[in-house]
Amino acid sequence: MAGILIQVSCLILGIISTTVGLDNGLALTPPMGWLTWERFRCITDCKKYPDECISENLIKRTVDLMVSDGYLEAGYEYVGIDDCWLEKKRGPDGRMVPDRERFPSGMKALADYIHSRGLKFGIYEDYGNLTCAGYPGVLGSEQLDIDTFVEWDVDYIKLDGCYIEPEHMDSGYPAFGEMLNKTGRPILYSCSWPAYQEDAKMLPDYASIAKHCNLWRNWDDIEDSWASASKIMDWFGDNQDRLAQHAGPGHWNDPDMLLIGNFGLSEDQAKTQMAVWAVLAAPLLISADLATMKPEFKRILLNKDIIAVNQDKLGKQGLRVWKQRNISVWNRELSDGERALAFVSQREDGIPYAVSLTFKDMQLPEQTYEVQDLYNEEKSRTVSPGEEFNVRINPSGVKFYKFIPKNKVLGSVQAKQILNSNVFNNEINNKH
Ligand SMILES: *[C@@H]1O[C@H](CO)[C@@H](O)[C@H](O)[C@H]1NC(C)=O
Ligand SMILES: *[C@@H]1O[C@H](CO)[C@@H](O)[C@H](O)[C@H]1NC(C)=O
Ligand SMILES: *[C@@H]1O[C@H](CO)[C@@H](O)[C@H](O)[C@H]1NC(C)=O
Repeated sequence: MAGILIQVSCLILGIISTTVGLDNGLALTPPMGWLTWERFRCITDCKKYPDECISENLIKRTVDLMVSDGYLEAGYEYVGIDDCWLEKKRGPDGRMVPDRERFPSGMKALADYIHSRGLKFGIYEDYGNLTCAGYPGVLGSEQLDIDTFVEWDVDYIKLDGCYIEPEHMDSGYPAFGEMLNKTGRPILYSCSWPAYQEDAKMLPDYASIAKHCNLWRNWDDIEDSWASASKIMDWFGDNQDRLAQHAGPGHWNDPDMLLIGNFGLSEDQAKTQMAVWAVLAAPLLISADLATMKPEFKRILLNKDIIAVNQDKLGKQGLRVWKQRNISVWNRELSDGERALAFVSQREDGIPYAVSLTFKDMQLPEQTYEVQDLYNEEKSRTVSPGEEFNVRINPSGVKFYKFIPKNKVLGSVQAKQILNSNVFNNEINNKH
């Protein structure tokens, strides 16, 4: 009886927390864009590293490539500068000063450039006395800094949490958010609030976080390796019962940037990160040098069908529903009764690993599905209740499918006729 009561009250809490979120009209689907940190960190020596230093040249070059190479068209619309854009000292008027050598034209001019190309401008600050890399933080200058960001036409603020006690965040982050709201300018608000509290073994108040932030970093910074990506996936799976219910249109959990296109992930591993981030309804923030992006990685980042899963308008974060023998199944409910299922291998034993799964294993509602391979490596197939679903997954790789209820595929006589002809199968198989 007590068990039932607890379950029911959890259900009610779950419903409440998914319906109350930050209402600034932004991030109705997970934000997509590009951010400097993971790839470019705090490179400030433009003489030694002219193509990599945090500078207006890097941002402009990236903006041009986002437009010319199809990233903007695919949905990646924000371009963000992370830490290390400031002078070490504020100006005589107390205002933040962008580094004079690396941002000689100033942030308003950079914003104009970004906006003229159809993109949006993201910038980083820190709620504490200093940013994580030791530049001036906003503490004590919040209103002045927000006014400055508004003068610069900033569209997205990532507010980090170094040099401030995690205990102060429960009131500090909402207060900053309310000041943002009062400016009248819609500014996407990315909070690092829970990441520092999780790190301090506090239990973050995710209901409050979802009410005040559009996205929030939950946990550790991602590093350029499979070990790091894999550890983050495990953490999000292990903690999903506390996290997933708080994601929804306007407010998202953030497992951190995409590593795809850098040095540390193989093609299989890159496909895995993209698939799991799509299931998690995670922000898709590329952090790579678009000028040297290899075609196989670009294809993954621009995969329209996978982006569509990530951006599904139901806005429901998917769950890890099965895990055994270092194989896991991740299931995301999509609008119109569709599902996206990622079958992930974290095995290290060298050959593709085969598994057979029941509907119950996959937590799949019992009906017949047309199954389409989102990476387009296999022909589409049908699976019905009572049958097992067979997959074979590369080491540290993924199989990623969309399950479409067959009654939907066969919804009209016309669709049925098309399905029975080879034309349709060819279309499915050549859809990219
Ligand atoms: C921030 O700096 C002020 C002035 O130096 C100091 O009094 C305060 O303790 C610092 N706060 C934190 C959280 O470090
Ligand atoms: C400010 O908050 C109100 C109430 O949630 C909301 O309707 C409005 O869109 C917000 N405005 C901005 C600029 O964020
Ligand atoms: C399964 O994962 C664990 C933990 O990451 C690892 O130590 C182990 O070697 C893996 N087993 C196989 C067969 O890959």
